[in-house]
Amino acid sequence: MLVRAIAGNATYHFASEVRAGLTRSGQKELPSKYLYDDVGSALFDVISRLPEYGLTRADERLLRRYSADIVDCLATPVAVAELGSGSGKKTRWLLKALSRRQRTSYYPVEISPWALAMCERELSDIDSISIVGLEREYLAGLAEVAARRKSGQHIFVLFLGSTIGNFDRSAGVEFLAKIRRILQAGDSLLLGTDLDKPRAQLLAAYDDALGVTAAFNLNLLGRINRELEANFDLKQFSHVARINHRARRVEMHLRSNRLQQVRIQAAALEVEFLEGETIWTESSHKYSAKEIFQMALDAGFRCDAQWIDEEWSFAESLLMAK
Ligand code: AVI
Repeated sequence: MLVRAIAGNATYHFASEVRAGLTRSGQKELPSKYLYDDVGSALFDVISRLPEYGLTRADERLLRRYSADIVDCLATPVAVAELGSGSGKKTRWLLKALSRRQRTSYYPVEISPWALAMCERELSDIDSISIVGLEREYLAGLAEVAARRKSGQHIFVLFLGSTIGNFDRSAGVEFLAKIRRILQAGDSLLLGTDLDKPRAQLLAAYDDALGVTAAFNLNLLGRINRELEANFDLKQFSHVARINHRARRVEMHLRSNRLQQVRIQAAALEVEFLEGETIWTESSHKYSAKEIFQMALDAGFRCDAQWIDEEWSFAESLLMAK
């Protein structure tokens, strides 16, 4: 079952965020959430299969190995809310482990209808699971799950795939605190975070040889062309992956190959790009396993357990609402 949001003014919001990001003084920016239209979500699915990008496989490996242990730590019965489910592939193991104990309502929360459809298709064969897809922003979706909570039921939130890394560090803690405010004591959150790793490994992961990450990044300009009547010439921009050592993150940028003007009709905007100037499109922060314990405390949780993948250095941390 799919519950759709009223998408009414989505184009208006998109246009105003594009306008704000491209007219700010200094570094031009676009919000990374707009990378995920149907084309972007499909490209991200390909990225997650690339040899250079081990993040998604590490997440999956941990869940395949430790789902039974994770479920053993939970107070049941639980309803499961997954923020940004993607295709749902890695959630299978957790849902299977849960389905051995209880009938489970699973609420994938996604803004991409393409990803929600994939997720329902991927997981519909698991016994004792009912899937209700929520086409919503994360917190609005979680609030809806909380409103549907049955008496005595806990909520188990999944925030996997290191999506937390796409927030600035302090905004990440603030986001976890907002999740906490929707939850009750005894509810839990499984947080997937990509850990620090060597520069060469990170650069390869975010600038792969096939150019899929480049296409994923450039598609953001393609999306603006399609949805906001713009005339970006995609051939005149290049994908750049940069390491910011101080902030411990990888940044994706789109660099203008020449001096050029772009018209974005729906944002009533004409914007100039200098040769070499970049638009900052995404940050992927990397964490140490230890720092997740402090983040949890700062957001009103307690980190009760952590599982680490040694092959790709990635952590699943189980956070309990205090
Ligand atoms: C979804 N997110 C955690 C990915 C990341 O690694 O930051 C998105 C991504 N960007 C480039 N490659 C993958």
